[in-house]
Amino acid sequence: MTAQLNPRGDVAVLIPAAGAGVRLGPGGPKALRLLGDEPLLVHAVRRVAAAPSVRTIVVAAPPAEVAAVRQLLAPVAAVTVVAGGVERQESVALALAAVPAGPEIILVHDAARALAPPELFESVAAAVRSGRPAVIPVLPVVDTVKEVDADGVVLGTVDRSALRAVQTPQGFRRAVLAAAHAGAAGSLTDDAGLVEKQGIPVTCVQGHEHALKITRPFDLAVATLLLAS
Ligand code: CTP
Ligand code: MG
Repeated sequence: MTAQLNPRGDVAVLIPAAGAGVRLGPGGPKALRLLGDEPLLVHAVRRVAAAPSVRTIVVAAPPAEVAAVRQLLAPVAAVTVVAGGVERQESVALALAAVPAGPEIILVHDAARALAPPELFESVAAAVRSGRPAVIPVLPVVDTVKEVDADGVVLGTVDRSALRAVQTPQGFRRAVLAAAHAGAAGSLTDDAGLVEKQGIPVTCVQGHEHALKITRPFDLAVATLLLAS
């Protein structure tokens, strides 16, 4: 089945998927590891393609796996696959450069958040469409958070009510993301961080528990249970 992406959609989704997955333990690149019967990236792309506003998907694949990823995704959805970079930020920039003219809303989504539901893409895109230059999905922080020194001695307790855990997809006006990447120095794990540095307001919307990032083996076990439920 080939998913037909909406030609009238105003959203392009970038999926950085070029990471090694070191924290997941030995094995191939994380995006190609299996969750249930299918690679993480297949789960992620299927959910992105099911979001009605999405017109274009660009995946940044491990450079050695570009042809394999194209083949893997061809039956899932119409996607453009480019070689990713050494850092996530570079992979995002390379994917952004491959977005054709048209979509004015860009969402950046980690392949590692393979179970983020289509509704989350729609709600982030809707907030950008309504005039917000940059939008991030967040969840409240449930644990008590302490600041500690290098010896593990507690320096203080952070006010949890003011904290949020940040997910992807993160959404941007196209020009805002392009300017943030053009001006980027160093590397950040999140695109909204680049935009913040430019003094542009970043707005939060409600995140989703299924958008958890699969980082360690425990997360993969949780995602496997979610998928089966
Ligand atoms: N990513 C990327 N290019 C890189 C590094 C990361 O496209 N050079 C992507 C990953 O594929 C992932 C997302 O960025 O979808 C979030 O990164 P992370 O969860 O850290 O994945 P990995 O870098 O693969 O994992 P690890 O840090 O454990 O090696
Ligand atoms: Mg990483």
